[in-house]
Amino acid sequence: EKERKLIIAGNWKMNKTVAEAVDLVKGLKLELSGVKEVDLVVCPPFTALCEVSKLLLDSNIRLGAQNMNENPAGAYTGEIAAFMLKEFSVRYVILGHSERRTYFGETDEWVARKARAAHAAALKPIICVGETLEEREQGRTRAVLERQVRGSLAGLTRDQMLETIIAYEPVWAIGTGRNATPEQAQEAHAFIRSLLAGMYDETVARRVRIQYGGSVKPSNARDLMCLPDVDGALVGGASLEVRSFADIVKNSI
Ligand code: G3P
Repeated sequence: EKERKLIIAGNWKMNKTVAEAVDLVKGLKLELSGVKEVDLVVCPPFTALCEVSKLLLDSNIRLGAQNMNENPAGAYTGEIAAFMLKEFSVRYVILGHSERRTYFGETDEWVARKARAAHAAALKPIICVGETLEEREQGRTRAVLERQVRGSLAGLTRDQMLETIIAYEPVWAIGTGRNATPEQAQEAHAFIRSLLAGMYDETVARRVRIQYGGSVKPSNARDLMCLPDVDGALVGGASLEVRSFADIVKNSI
């Protein structure tokens, strides 16, 4: 029995019509209604939050968003604020995903501002960090993770940190079918936890959950989720179908 409860989240990215989202969530409810051992989260695109939210009212699956703007409201064309997410009972928000860092220029400082804004609205941020293949091959994995963890969590109080989730997503494992080996994942997660001990204290380090993300699938979920410092998964491609996401959850219990 692990001291931290596993949290498995589906990041649907830019996929699913509202009708498709509804179908997927109905299927997940049927498959996963009995699951109490794992915290379950789905993160649909903004356009599906309203309908999915209604379906999740009577379920053990919580709702997450994939991004948010750090400002309270106002003239930010095309953006979504925390209060808008709260309307749909969103509990979690993914911040600083590598796709947002790469394609939309999000920096550690920016992610930290979003994280503070999320907490101000009582949303739990899932903050993503992870090295590229080049950085790993150059032996810079720890340096990159340290910069991202310190920078993206900057300014969070101890209480806020306890309500924050970190997702370790090595960029080379995202959408490639090539997951980190259990050894690589455990090493990175233990390192991130040691950073938390230095930035906060041992209790924080022991309590914060660190998810693994990057080509998680039913066939590798068990080996990754049983690692001592891996506390869940952030699943992309395999979260888009009922069968694969449900099997990831079941294989992790
Ligand atoms: O946020 C989850 C994601 O980046 C991993 O994607 O498709 O490799 O599971 P995938």
